Amino acid sequence: MNVTSICCIGAGYVGGPTMAVIALKCPNIKVTVVDINEQRITAWNHEDLDQLPIYEPGLKEVVAEARGRNLFFSTDVEKAIEESQLIFMAVNTPTKTYGDGKGFAADLTFVEKCARQIAKVATSDKIVIEKSTLPVRTAEKIKEVLSSNIKGVHFEVLSNPEFLAEGTAIQDLFKSDRVLIGGDDTESGKAAVAALVAIYLNWIPKEKILTTNVWSSELSKLASNAMLAQRISSINSLSALCEKSGADIEEVSKAIGMDSRIGSKFLKASVGFGGSCFQKDILNLVYLCKHFGLAEVAEYWHQVVKINDYQKNRFASKIIAGLNGTVNQKKITLLGWAFKKDTNDSRESAGIYVADVLLEEGAELHVFDPMVKEAQIYQDLTNLWEARNESSKEINYKLKRCIVHHKHTTALDSSFAAAILTEWDEFKSYNWNAIAKKMMQPAKIFDGRNVIENSSRGEFNLIQTGR
Ligand code: NAD
Ligand code: UGA
Repeated sequence: MNVTSICCIGAGYVGGPTMAVIALKCPNIKVTVVDINEQRITAWNHEDLDQLPIYEPGLKEVVAEARGRNLFFSTDVEKAIEESQLIFMAVNTPTKTYGDGKGFAADLTFVEKCARQIAKVATSDKIVIEKSTLPVRTAEKIKEVLSSNIKGVHFEVLSNPEFLAEGTAIQDLFKSDRVLIGGDDTESGKAAVAALVAIYLNWIPKEKILTTNVWSSELSKLASNAMLAQRISSINSLSALCEKSGADIEEVSKAIGMDSRIGSKFLKASVGFGGSCFQKDILNLVYLCKHFGLAEVAEYWHQVVKINDYQKNRFASKIIAGLNGTVNQKKITLLGWAFKKDTNDSRESAGIYVADVLLEEGAELHVFDPMVKEAQIYQDLTNLWEARNESSKEINYKLKRCIVHHKHTTALDSSFAAAILTEWDEFKSYNWNAIAKKMMQPAKIFDGRNVIENSSRGEFNLIQTGR
């Protein structure tokens, strides 16, 4: 099959960067990224590349080269479906907030809507590709929906989960550890897999392209995220023990990681993992295990999320305890709101939960993040409180006690404590002694990410994670 036209439904953190890289590497294929969110598409088409809806190092350079050549962003979903041979689905799959599986299962509403639209519009054969992270056996459901097409169109459904991490998305896409493609073991299934493999072969070495059956591919994505998150919860749980015992988590982590069977990555103690996926995907895995009657397996994975909640709460409690048991009416500074450095994404960021506890305790919060916009910070807090059915009066009262700054200095002046929540590089280079002098005395820095060198401790109390 000679592929000349593909589209992606969903222009988010996955759809945008992945398709931009495919367009860059495959100049002969027309790549259209579509979304129902007009504002997002307008931002993707913005002349000023600093206004793209997603901040990722290297992304604007890729968009600059491919956009208008063979990369297009549009809200015309139906036209894109009709014109494309391959259709990626990269829509959101959040945790269900209602009904059966509430709080655990993945909400497949958006995926099903996409499949329905493809079934309705398609007049020629299509390969439909699951790019979103989905529960095992979702392809079965997608096939059933697609079979409602009345124009005799043949659909192949492939699973091709995405493993990029935010902040390094472009490098991850350029040099993927592996590309995973799951397909049916039929003639047409094999042909569909071959068509997708051919696209990736434009820049990914053959030995890194792994083909499996559909269910293995779907499950491998959930399992990968669960294993990565499990390492973080493991090291975070040990950070609590380090604080009690006098061991140093940075030394412990280094010692563990030097065992080549374990490896050194993803052993950095923190305020708890954030991001839109780890928690959602593990909860989904827990739901699946329960669904298949595997209560013990479900409980095993659930602990990973529970330890993460524990770590976030532990950090907030440490700040309160460190300020004589009360933060009421005290200026407290949060440095970092993004869930990790080098992204403007704050979904499920630990900062949201720490802020929530401190505001509840009466603190006057002052927040600085180099990349996350003020409106987003207020939106994140509002979303949390609205989900808890708090009244708008209560929400507005708390929001007024949270001030967002555009400079770290104003956020920190006269503060009782600074809490570092994101490991932004610039936090490492601050003159902490000079900052501490301008804070209320004794100045306390709660370095949740261990970004400050122990040796730079001078004019202030440095309280780190697991040390
Ligand atoms: P996102 O919320 O940033 O983007 C999803 C987009 O899909 C939104 O812009 C939304 O408007 C659009 N959309 C929803 N329904 C639509 C429809 N019917 N038609 C057209 N557009 C529609 O989400 P994301 O972070 O890009 O994640 C997408 C999927 O990829 C999720 O399943 C996620 O688990 C998975 N994933 C995410 C990452 C990541 O780093 N964010 C990495 C790997 C996998
Ligand atoms: C993660 C996975 O790394 C990707 O492979 C996957 O594709 C993606 O989820 C997804 O499915 O969405 P991402 O969430 O973007 O990527 O970022 P990570 O680098 O994994 O970090 C997640 C969280 O864990 C961040 O809050 C980060 O600060 C934290 N973390 C990470 C630690 O606390 N310690 C570590 O050692 C590593």
